[in-house]
Amino acid sequence: MTMIQVPIQKPLDIPNLSKSELKELIQAQGELQQDLFRQAREVRQQAGVDEVLLRGVIEISNYCQKNCDYCAMRAANPKLNRYRMAAEEILEIADQIAQMDISILFLQAGQDPQSDSVVEEVIPEIKRRYNFPVLLCMGERPQNVYQRFAQLGADSYILKFEVSNPELHRDIIHTPLERRLQCLRWLQEAGFEVGTGNIVGLRGQTLDHLVEDIRLALEIQPNFVSSSPFIPNQDTPLENIGCGNLDYTLNTMAIYRIALKTPLIPTVSALEKIQPDGQLMGLNAGANVMTINFTPPEYREKYSIYSKKRFIVSLDHALNTIERAGLRLKVLS
Ligand code: 5AD
Repeated sequence: MTMIQVPIQKPLDIPNLSKSELKELIQAQGELQQDLFRQAREVRQQAGVDEVLLRGVIEISNYCQKNCDYCAMRAANPKLNRYRMAAEEILEIADQIAQMDISILFLQAGQDPQSDSVVEEVIPEIKRRYNFPVLLCMGERPQNVYQRFAQLGADSYILKFEVSNPELHRDIIHTPLERRLQCLRWLQEAGFEVGTGNIVGLRGQTLDHLVEDIRLALEIQPNFVSSSPFIPNQDTPLENIGCGNLDYTLNTMAIYRIALKTPLIPTVSALEKIQPDGQLMGLNAGANVMTINFTPPEYREKYSIYSKKRFIVSLDHALNTIERAGLRLKVLS
């Protein structure tokens, strides 16, 4: 039975929707889905965050202490060749990124304490050379590490909760959800802008779990938030389950946009991996960020977060996608 009437007449009051209404939105197709996307685009425009921002990511280490069942960088995967980039290599690439219309330098790594010294060398140098915001994504770390990164000048940090149900979180990620939430609070206390988000389509995940994901994201009040479809990854416990549902992912992104209004919402490369033009669909569902990959080719294949053959986003692909969405690029003033 449907509860939400199309066309949707007034702005959706997401925090006050019932669980069944949220489930209906997550599963929306046809006219309801088009209405949901239209409303997400209107919210994006009214919130003044309609221009698409580009991040340049360098994946600096694929060592990881964790054992997330969906990720081939998990510590227990002996088949992966590991690498850790040196500060010099990273700074050389940062130089290239600084010459393009890219607004944010994004350093990503597995949860690898040994890359701390590299990052601690790189952050102040980048801040000295350019006017770049620096975004980090380096996992669950002690509070003092977050404080140090912030003091050195890093601006923002992504720590996705990935899956919000505590039992399912432990089952798939093998550490407590509470620890991850504690880390998010430490990051906010350290002065970071924080990003979080979920994966859609993990083993044992139900629509009820996806509703919990949305409610947790609203509670965190992040500065950026993402939803990514699960991509089965070789040499992981989840290698034989199917991809996450594209529509559920896009609908979740639209719901995040309508509920949270201003955050940066990336249209992730995993969307393009499961369907050509998937990232364009993400922009049409309310996203406003794309991440261009600047990891040197010799390391890229080893950074196997989605799958060995992940979709590598180039600047051309991003600019083309933004143009086809009828949007403009945000350039740093
Ligand atoms: N499918 C979808 N998302 C994944 N991530 C890692 N592995 C996968 C996968 N197999 C996402 C996680 C992580 C981000 C860097 O990539 O959400 O936070």
